[in-house]
Amino acid sequence: MCGIIGAVAQRNVAPILIEGLKRLEYRGYDSAGVALLQDQEIKRIRTTGRVAALEEAVREQNAHGLTGIAHTRWATHGAPTEGNAHPHVSGGIAVVHNGIIENHEALRAELKQAGFSFTSQTDTEVIAHLINHYFKSCRDLFQATREAVARLQGAYAIGVVCDSMPNKLIAARQGSPLLIGVGVEEHFIASDTSALLPVTQRFIYLEDGDVAELGLTSIVVVDKNGAAVSRAIQQSELRAEMVELGEYRHYMQKEIYEQPRALSDTLQELINGGVQPILFGMEAESILSTIERITFLACGTSYHSALTARYWIEALAGIPCNAEIASEYRYRTSVPDPKALIVTISQSGETADTLSALKHAQSLGHEYTLTICNVSESALVRESRLNMITRAGPEIGVASTKAFTTQLAALFTLALVLAKLRGRLNAVEEQKQIAALRALPGQMQRVLALESRVQRWAERFAEKQHALFLGRGMHYPIALEGALKLKEISYIHAEAYPAGELKHGPLALVDKDMPVIAIAPNDALLEKLKSNLQEVRARGGELYVVLDEDTHIQDMDEIHKITLPLHAGWLSPILHVVPLQMLSYHAALQKGTDVDKPRNLAKSVTVE
Ligand code: G6P
Repeated sequence: MCGIIGAVAQRNVAPILIEGLKRLEYRGYDSAGVALLQDQEIKRIRTTGRVAALEEAVREQNAHGLTGIAHTRWATHGAPTEGNAHPHVSGGIAVVHNGIIENHEALRAELKQAGFSFTSQTDTEVIAHLINHYFKSCRDLFQATREAVARLQGAYAIGVVCDSMPNKLIAARQGSPLLIGVGVEEHFIASDTSALLPVTQRFIYLEDGDVAELGLTSIVVVDKNGAAVSRAIQQSELRAEMVELGEYRHYMQKEIYEQPRALSDTLQELINGGVQPILFGMEAESILSTIERITFLACGTSYHSALTARYWIEALAGIPCNAEIASEYRYRTSVPDPKALIVTISQSGETADTLSALKHAQSLGHEYTLTICNVSESALVRESRLNMITRAGPEIGVASTKAFTTQLAALFTLALVLAKLRGRLNAVEEQKQIAALRALPGQMQRVLALESRVQRWAERFAEKQHALFLGRGMHYPIALEGALKLKEISYIHAEAYPAGELKHGPLALVDKDMPVIAIAPNDALLEKLKSNLQEVRARGGELYVVLDEDTHIQDMDEIHKITLPLHAGWLSPILHVVPLQMLSYHAALQKGTDVDKPRNLAKSVTVE
């Protein structure tokens, strides 16, 4: 979703802003723009489509400046046109915004009455006019922004510059992510750290309600009550090259191949130190011993992690679990249980629905909260009492891959900790599980080596309009994830069903044009699954089956097989998802879609 970058410096910031926008492209966008303070005037350039077009326009017009803001827009209010692209300008004030202003219609009417005219359909333009309105009386951009944001309802992260105040950059956030990058006699703002890594590794994470004024050598932050506050500067461990493509063709491909490393990093403390509650934080032992049930809240791929974890935790720890889509939970009337642990799962830690669902749970009186998250400074981590950070490293591809498998590793760790606290994991079993986890990255390498076989499947899939994924038990969520991946990036319509449901509807769809992908690990449900596969064959359906080395499936005509290493027990879903990730990647390549930036989708969904 929308990306923001801004800079105040003693050098031309145009290249910094453009590079920052490129690094924010992964969030998803459909237009882009920049405003630079150039010769006491705002020089604004906006384009639809890719940042490369904006870069070209900036170069052609020789746009430059020591202070500026820039933006990638993912359209919500108003079509993705140049006129709706940010920055929006009112008088000499330019604004970029991420979020949604819920009371924009009332503010628009009020501002029209006051004589302002609007040139776009966006909610953002009201912010520019509102700041201009207050600026006219106080002539202070910081003060005017504070007065303006006090009128806003909804979510926002904004950056503001003004032609009469060079060397000043104002930032404010409420609900949407925004941070400050601290340089030497220069300061920056951005939606996330990756945008600023070429210029700094020192960051200040703004809190909800904060408004900040950045000068060349000064940073002043006031909180939601208007009090001056000091926010700590944090040193990031991330380096610029960690978010670069390197030898790979796409980020998704890079991230699929990073999974063995990401898993080792995520599991390192567990493997070295054993199954310990402290892996989830200081309070973990008391909280995890107290809770009697678990509610998982998440969106998209992270929701599929939750569905998988439910199988593990109920079986290993004997704790009842339910997994809910965050956007549903936050608006339904649920029955709070004070002994429940609320577990949010998120790659970004900024997904608006997941964050709101957590806040909703807290408002219902839920005290016990835990997040599994890939970004240690994110809002979800800050809001939760317990956490485990997945060590996947920055994930840029919109289709989540390494974040998913590391979430699963973290959730399996949670299952083991809960089982141990309840006396259901003896020392022998603990060592056995740790050995299995230690072997996991190596096993995943073997699965990755199957890429050329998956590629051949993908060549056939690329011609299809629809696909059906089947799984049973803890591999049903993996079927769901396989179907999600395929539709996200190759735009092939895909559905997933627990194989036992086949006869209750989807079998009606099966014919020679409907490929059916079945996940067939050598587990207790294999015999049941085999019957389901026969049902598909009997109707002329073309079967693609992902097996384990020890799965015995009778040869059927026209059955395509890919064989993974020996059955990995409880960890099997973490391996079985990998061929499905590669399948969607190669199907997308065949179809020529934009793998890392699929149409209409965003990486970080920071609005409802
Ligand atoms: C978007 C992304 C998905 C992701 C989902 C949840 O839809 O495209 O890949 O699974 O958001 O994001 P989160 O950061 O909360 O895991």
